Amino acid sequence: MPKKQSLAPRKAIDRKRMARALKTWRGFDKGARRPDVERAYNPDLAYANYVRYLGTDFIQFLRARKSKVRRMNVFDAGCGKGSFLSHVKNEFGEGVFTEGLALAHFKSKGIDRLHVGHIDKFKLPKRKYDLVVSHAGATFYSFDPLARTGEIIDALKSGGDAFLDYSSRLDLAELKALCASKDVALTVTRSNRYYTAVHITKTIRARKKVPA
Ligand SMILES: C[S@@+](CC[C@H](N)C(=O)[O-])C[C@H]1O[C@@H](n2cnc3c(N)ncnc32)[C@H](O)[C@@H]1O
Repeated sequence: MPKKQSLAPRKAIDRKRMARALKTWRGFDKGARRPDVERAYNPDLAYANYVRYLGTDFIQFLRARKSKVRRMNVFDAGCGKGSFLSHVKNEFGEGVFTEGLALAHFKSKGIDRLHVGHIDKFKLPKRKYDLVVSHAGATFYSFDPLARTGEIIDALKSGGDAFLDYSSRLDLAELKALCASKDVALTVTRSNRYYTAVHITKTIRARKKVPA
């Protein structure tokens, strides 16, 4: 029988080099910085995936909201080629203003305003959106999903909703505590070791009566 060849000795890990590399590591976004990569994101199935993984029929959901507001603001954090927003735009036309965030610039008819940048460096406006969604997008890839969720909650109008998903970076107990401290309702729609999807509702606060 031929003698088994011994394996080459494993290279010792250069910990200093590794630590240096981690400091500048850009995460999962590396390949998505190009417009052609953005455009390639699952164009036809994207809306169906949002419904499936975020657990809501968004067109029905927005129809119900539309009866209460004149114009809805919808934000997709990590919008890919904008298929979700295009779907919403097709349905509601001028009744909706669609905004997306992505790592690369590209053109899409369904997006009224495209922001280009990393969610961890992006400044969200306050009390602007009726709906914020993020499917396999910015909250999933953020290095600080909890802080980003706090900002998303602040970006919701009173009565607005966010449907977000996260990777295993998220600590669900911390998210629950955050939502309790911000006085918003949290429903966990899916959760396992690697993936969490949630629905956050910012309930409408009754206005305090000013004594006459
Ligand atoms: C896998 S694609 C998903 C696209 C779309 N949400 C869908 O489900 O079809 C990831 C999207 O999130 C964006 N993205 C990833 N990491 C991000 C980050 N840190 N900040 C902002 N956007 C990010 C990418 O640019 C891309 O548009």
